[in-house]
Amino acid sequence: MVRELFNGIAERYDLANRLISLNLDCCWRRKACEEALKAISPEGGKISVLDVACGTGDMLLCLRKKLDERGIEAEFYGLDCSENMLEVAKRKVPFARLFHGFAGDMPFGDGSFDLVTVAFGVRNFSNRKKGIEEIYRVLKPGGVLAVLEFSRNPSTLGRLAWFYTKGVVPLIGRLVTGYGEAYSYLVRSIEKFPGPEELAEEFERVGFSTLKARWFFPRIAFLLLLRKDR
Ligand SMILES: C[S@@+](CC[C@H](N)C(=O)[O-])C[C@H]1O[C@@H](n2cnc3c(N)ncnc32)[C@H](O)[C@@H]1O
Repeated sequence: MVRELFNGIAERYDLANRLISLNLDCCWRRKACEEALKAISPEGGKISVLDVACGTGDMLLCLRKKLDERGIEAEFYGLDCSENMLEVAKRKVPFARLFHGFAGDMPFGDGSFDLVTVAFGVRNFSNRKKGIEEIYRVLKPGGVLAVLEFSRNPSTLGRLAWFYTKGVVPLIGRLVTGYGEAYSYLVRSIEKFPGPEELAEEFERVGFSTLKARWFFPRIAFLLLLRKDR
């Protein structure tokens, strides 16, 4: 279902994101990349980076920019279950190796990556525990995972952001993509998704340690930074 949904909106996904979030989605990805890169400790040589649920490739673009700024060489990999999202990504991130597949069954060997990122993807995993276990498996010991997600925050600002998300986002989504169901699904999925502390516990149960959990303005998106212990 999720795959069909993203296949249906792929060509207009980026435009819808920019309009719906008033460009904040780019700031959230940028901050997530910055925090993730502070947490890794490259020991010289190339590092390998995987973006799970890479969609149209925005996170990979951001990662490459931030790694270039730090003079860190990297190999970039992306994985997504939507063929049409990957078609858009192929045009935007030709430097990355893109794979069609599901987070719960990834075509990578154990301990392949120094850094794994998932931006707005974990919420969509059909089997979250399996997806988390697979990410743990493909990370190197000591590797870092950055998860960017949406949830409801009880603060005043968070409640305002939720009000906007519930009331306005499906309308804009429908206008821009012609596929309102995708954005009603977005609202439903955020409503039942755990906040950073509860989500961190799910990752810790698989063996991760939490490095950081923080909300981004306006307290509807959050970052969870985790490490696979050595
Ligand atoms: C909301 S989009 C996020 C895309 C991108 N990460 C971004 O920041 O814009 C969610 C993406 O997750 C993908 N996806 C959902 N479930 C997945 C799964 N189990 N395995 C791999 N990709 C998945 C969808 O196809 C879609 O491209």
